[in-house]
Amino acid sequence: MGLWDKREDMIIHEADPYNAEPVPSALADRMLTPLDSFYGRNHGPIPVIDPRAWRLRIDGLAEQHPDLSLDDLRSQFPRQTLTATLQCAGNRRAGLIEVRDIPGEAPWGPGATSTAQWTGVSLAAVLRAAGPSEEAAHVAFSAPDISQLADPPQAYGASITLAKAIAGEVLLAWAMNGQPLPPVHGAPVRVIVPGYIGARSVKWVERITLQDHPSDNYFQATAYRLLPAEADPAAAGPGDGLSLGAIAVNSAILRPASGSVLAVGPTGIAGYAFAGDDRGIARVDVSADAGQTWQQASLGPDAGPWAWRQWQTTIDLPAGDTEIIARAWDTSAAAQPESPAHLWNPKGYVNNSWARLHVTTR
Ligand code: MTE
Repeated sequence: MGLWDKREDMIIHEADPYNAEPVPSALADRMLTPLDSFYGRNHGPIPVIDPRAWRLRIDGLAEQHPDLSLDDLRSQFPRQTLTATLQCAGNRRAGLIEVRDIPGEAPWGPGATSTAQWTGVSLAAVLRAAGPSEEAAHVAFSAPDISQLADPPQAYGASITLAKAIAGEVLLAWAMNGQPLPPVHGAPVRVIVPGYIGARSVKWVERITLQDHPSDNYFQATAYRLLPAEADPAAAGPGDGLSLGAIAVNSAILRPASGSVLAVGPTGIAGYAFAGDDRGIARVDVSADAGQTWQQASLGPDAGPWAWRQWQTTIDLPAGDTEIIARAWDTSAAAQPESPAHLWNPKGYVNNSWARLHVTTR
């Protein structure tokens, strides 16, 4: 076993804080990502919290300010399970770095995305019990992990709108694929915000604050914002650029491996496509001739709008070098943009350009 009970072959971008993604083949052909392959994205040291000592405080613009234990959460609210994909805003950053370097940011491939079946309680139910006041418009999450990378160094935090928080799908989860949540993924309890960038799914959550403005935490106000190409990220301050929330349609090719040497003729291609927000995947097209012709991939099982679709197809691989391209369409008829060049941004977020992979024949 590798670090944090992960597969030995994880691609480790940083050991401490732990930032690692599975090799693409580990994600292929399965709806649920096994715990030992699920990507890990951290901005500080991973806290190991005694579940019996853990408390969740709800405060701010609400009638009640409950202070809940794990037993309270489990016994006072109905249990809910849903399948949701987490995708980091930096997923596929490597494709943007090929356009222009992005110093200080990890070159994530397509593996900063994974899917699990999460079990916990609905945040909506917990907030309803607290009774949000009229002025409450945002719900802020606070965690105990202190990030030295924040300016100034501070504990991790994020927020979502009250509308998203009470929509029903946001969970306070203590289990993942039917197993207790491991420390690396936020034990004893984490937030799961389906359809939104992973940064909003706060791990080790210990405080939930109802307020009339978004969180002023560094990771909400300054990081995870889409800056214009010409901006200097070192000079960016709170409120600069566009706050990232709902994810845009994206896809990746997971099999064969990039750079594979294969036989001429029929070759199986597999990947994932994720629509983001509350949309679904409508279609995935694959091309082996630079986009002159496309064929439709078959979509795997549909676990609802919060989860990716696995896809697969067979292409007839010609002799020589081939670039395989995939592009997904979502149920709002939005498609992935062709080129990463016009998506380039100084922090390297949201690369949802066509997936491309090179193979050759022997
Ligand atoms: N929560 C805390 N407390 N600290 C963090 O560093 N990273 C966020 C989010 N929640 C983070 C956090 C980011 S950017 C992502 S993409 C997801 O957790 C990753 O979740 P995972 O490590 O379980 O895959």
